[in-house]
Amino acid sequence: MQIDPSRKTVASWANGVIRSADKELNNRFLNGIHLLTMKSQFPAEESLAAVRARRTHSVKWQRYPADVLPAWVADMDFPPPRGALEAGITLLELGDTGYPSPDLILNYQASYQDWAKNNFGTQPHSLVTVADVVAALRIIVMAVTDPGAGVIVLTPSYPPFFRVVNEAQRELVPVPMQRVNRRYTIDFDLVARAAAEERVQAIILCNPQNPTGRVFSRAELTMIADIAERERLTVISDEIHQDLRAPGAVHIPYTSLDHESSNRAVVLASPSKSFNIAGLKVAHIELPNDTELRARIEGSQLLALSQATSIGLSVGAHAYQTEGAWLAEVRGIIDDNFTLATKGLADDDNVTLTEREGTYLLWGELLRRPSNQSAYEFLLDRARVAVGPGEDYLPGAPEFFRLNLAAWPSVVETMIERIHDALAAL
Ligand SMILES: Cc1ncc(COP(=O)(O)O)c(C=O)c1O
Repeated sequence: MQIDPSRKTVASWANGVIRSADKELNNRFLNGIHLLTMKSQFPAEESLAAVRARRTHSVKWQRYPADVLPAWVADMDFPPPRGALEAGITLLELGDTGYPSPDLILNYQASYQDWAKNNFGTQPHSLVTVADVVAALRIIVMAVTDPGAGVIVLTPSYPPFFRVVNEAQRELVPVPMQRVNRRYTIDFDLVARAAAEERVQAIILCNPQNPTGRVFSRAELTMIADIAERERLTVISDEIHQDLRAPGAVHIPYTSLDHESSNRAVVLASPSKSFNIAGLKVAHIELPNDTELRARIEGSQLLALSQATSIGLSVGAHAYQTEGAWLAEVRGIIDDNFTLATKGLADDDNVTLTEREGTYLLWGELLRRPSNQSAYEFLLDRARVAVGPGEDYLPGAPEFFRLNLAAWPSVVETMIERIHDALAAL
């Protein structure tokens, strides 16, 4: 492939910064690189023993003793789509495992653009590939805010948001969401008040939201956008769970809002949650239109330290191109698992489960538990189920827990039975 070396994109290759090229160019790469178009068969359900035996290098399955069912870290127990994995296996077999070529990056970008168009009706542009979303978040926070600036995070929240803001030496400004009838809503007055403070420069959104499972409506996002525009905040929108929605939930990418504020928004996404490839290290940043913000991000030296891998780019691109049906199967299993869990615990008046619109995470609260145990400790001790501890997501809230339901139904059934029995014995 010939690319004019004077173009800025070429100068930036070494940093892994390549802007999306025009459609025609992207299509050439798609046709040239992408030879594997096989859709994956969805695999048959595995037994608990089979999953455990297969996942000997997974932190999810290795952290706890063998009698504990792991439902904590957010990865899925379903093997990733085989056809997509083949794209990575081909590179491994060829020993073609160096730094990714521009073609590979452009192929990934074009594949995601098609995915976004087909799934969300959007046309994301100016994509920069990176290794993962949390690294990207750190880069963005450092680039678009000043040292000491306030950064709003809605709580409960995915814990690395807290860590990233603190490590970047910005000031965390937590704004609690409100739970109304088992569903979390944004308190816009609180957001507006926090945003009006002089030091506040950005808000980190998570949509679909981890851990509450909310998928924010256009009206809610527009309210955030109004506040962000009024206070000149940068919106950093982590949309990594965008493909994991309950029936009827519609994901609205922040940059698709017809609003001035979306010019100052940075969106982060990745195929890693959708296709269960977090270990392969591939994600992307959608750069803002605002030229000053964009220049600050593109100028970040940290981008060079967080490059996507060639395996991740090939598997991710293949998944976006051909694995929509695989994902639909996964969504179906997850929906059934939520029904199973809510029905299985329906009689337990000691537990409140949040209504879920997206993600595969169930956010719950134990209304009663032994006084010396958090919900996490109680469920680990008595049910032998490892959940995410509430306090990680909402400091000072040991009564909460997060349960990962991206598992085979028989495993979820056992998990729910164990939780039910532990609650019944209280
Ligand atoms: C909201 C959210 N963002 C980011 C991540 C992590 O993404 P990555 O592995 O790409 O850093 C997760 C993983 O659970 C997540 O839930």
